[in-house]
Amino acid sequence: MASQATKAETYQISVHDGEAQFTASSTVNLLVAMEQARESVIGVGCRGGGCGKCRIRVLDGDYESKRMSRAWISEEDEAEGIVLACRIFARSDLCIRPEPLPLATGYQPARSVSLSQAELK
Ligand code: FES
Repeated sequence: MASQATKAETYQISVHDGEAQFTASSTVNLLVAMEQARESVIGVGCRGGGCGKCRIRVLDGDYESKRMSRAWISEEDEAEGIVLACRIFARSDLCIRPEPLPLATGYQPARSVSLSQAELK
């Protein structure tokens, strides 16, 4: 999946469901590229690999990745193309999808409320 970039290239990044498209220079990480394009499809947190909020799955394309914390990206995740957007650099056009944090990490998703019929009365 990783290849060395010899000069700055620009690649097209598309989100799986067609929600967004933006370009990314090979010299900036994918999260910065998204922010430069004023898109918000990827979660933004620490911007340095420490929070896991920018987890995505790369469905197609090549990228180069910096080391990623095993707290957020397991070896199995990495093998499946799940990465931190702030730690990868496009090396081809990419198709991506935001990837929620697994509950096992202690991540607490936004609280959802489900009310029974009795509570609705
Ligand atoms: S923004 Fe925190 S890990 Fe990428």
